Amino acid sequence: MISSPETQTPPITDTPPPRSVDHDWWRSAVVYQVYPRSFADANGDGTGDIAGLIEKLPYLVELGIDAIWVSPWYPSPMADGGYDVSDYRDIHPDFGTLAEADDFVAKAHELGLRVLIDLVPNHSSDQHPWFHAALAAGPGSAERERYIFRDGLGANGEQAPNNWPAMFGGSAWDRAQRPGPGGAGAENVTADSDVQPEQWYLHLFAPEQPDFNWDNEEVIEEFDSILRFWFDRGIDGFRIDVANSMAKEAGLPDLAIHPGTGAPVSGFGEERPYFDQPHVHEILRRWRKVADSYADSELGPRVFVSEAWVSPAERLARYIRPDELHTTFNFDALVCEWQAESLRNVIDSTIAANAGVGAPCTWVLSNHDTTRVATRYGRKVTGARFTHEGIDWSSVTDQSEEDTRTQIDLGRRRARAAALLELALPGGAYVYQGDELGLEEVEDLPEDMLEDPTWERSGHTERGRDGCRVPMPWSGSETPFEFGDADTTPWLPQPAHWASLTAAAQLSEPRSMLTLYRAALAERRVNPALGDGTLRWDDDAPDGALSFTREPGFQCIVNLGERPVEIPSGAEILVASGEIFSGSVAPDDAVWLRL
Ligand code: BGC
Repeated sequence: MISSPETQTPPITDTPPPRSVDHDWWRSAVVYQVYPRSFADANGDGTGDIAGLIEKLPYLVELGIDAIWVSPWYPSPMADGGYDVSDYRDIHPDFGTLAEADDFVAKAHELGLRVLIDLVPNHSSDQHPWFHAALAAGPGSAERERYIFRDGLGANGEQAPNNWPAMFGGSAWDRAQRPGPGGAGAENVTADSDVQPEQWYLHLFAPEQPDFNWDNEEVIEEFDSILRFWFDRGIDGFRIDVANSMAKEAGLPDLAIHPGTGAPVSGFGEERPYFDQPHVHEILRRWRKVADSYADSELGPRVFVSEAWVSPAERLARYIRPDELHTTFNFDALVCEWQAESLRNVIDSTIAANAGVGAPCTWVLSNHDTTRVATRYGRKVTGARFTHEGIDWSSVTDQSEEDTRTQIDLGRRRARAAALLELALPGGAYVYQGDELGLEEVEDLPEDMLEDPTWERSGHTERGRDGCRVPMPWSGSETPFEFGDADTTPWLPQPAHWASLTAAAQLSEPRSMLTLYRAALAERRVNPALGDGTLRWDDDAPDGALSFTREPGFQCIVNLGERPVEIPSGAEILVASGEIFSGSVAPDDAVWLRL
């Protein structure tokens, strides 16, 4: 039995051990997600940049992660935070230059960190040269074949070709406008008043994000070439945006109508003609061959992680069969309530489904699309939420006022425990920037600053995802907390009370979230039981507790119940999310043990 009344998280070791050069690194990796616009601002213009990211590499090394995933850094009009790409082979001028990107990758590699970037293959920006050309070339042209144009229904083609909804609200179709006789060049097609409405184009997301036609050979070859462009520059892999969306059902059939609501049936887990179509796997197999063709390079074969909101787990596992993508985010855990039995079911089904295809699990608690962990776990509804149209990007939709009230201390406490759970599970894990600081969702951003397309497209009923994208607080007691210089106005305002949550403030605080993350990641690097592998549930664990062992000699206990859970006698505490009193793990705490 542990005799000390109170145990603190052990100190951080100064120098992390060298990273593995193992080509299977991705099976166990902890990957840190950088949202470049909000990470670090070196030039003080209020927007994060690559120079800032380079400056913060030592912070990431000391944090103890293995790899960095950078959300889109390409030129983009930013209609959807960079997920509307206008040039796949360059860098957004606000973020820097290609030379700086190369420098970042080289420096990350020198420090032993791998680098993943984002590939957005379902759609481009409407400012991509191919879309300009498609609008200008007109119906029936080869240029239009790269996207999904259709004639409208109704006598004058005034109705959308089908009833598909866009993820950010409204229809998934918009009508193209062509320059009339007096119109100028293709660049002006949407701005010119002398225009004629004609065909419709598909956009599963915002109207500024036209969907590519993945039945078109030019599109297929273009993306092979984009992969090679970045692999040749030394990128270790890609996160594939909406990897389940490129293939559409032939004929683009209407969604079924719900008999009760009369609305199209388009929820998560339901069959939709634009998601999870069988032939999407042909595309993924093709990309795997491209990645594997780098097997003999110094970095080894390149890797993919897929963002595919596909359920159930067996269906999702099809994306990571041995000849497809390597890993896929297990969003079921993110959607799951903070409840022991549900979480255990999700963990078991994920492990079983992934084992069936020989792939590791990839755990994720949040990202740039979902409510911050500390906020989510402090609410009545603790799982990420969905609307009938897909992910509920907003933190408020469909929830009564009471449901969205947040007990932030409880949320942070659970977020600490959840981090220990996530990092102890078999496989790899992703950490979204700022979660290591316990940042909360910023829910009071001024309405005129909201940029997420959801805000406009929902008719100002859903605030969208900006609240989890507020720039990082690095140090100091006043905004912008060294995101830029003292005079910088960050693109989204930071709460003044983040002074106590800055990275610098937390470094010297033994009980901070940052210290906990550093301790857990340091332990994970040296503990052979952690990372890829298996777990065994401790079936004697009391109700409400998740308790499992991993060999050799490791146990994780997470207490989701209401009563303290006793720590086995003789166990040594490696990392604890909270204080240990009387040899027990308190409710909403977690502990890692050496047996
Ligand atoms: C990205 C989102 C983006 C959407 C459309 C996603 O799933 O994570 O941020 O809005 O794809 O590209």
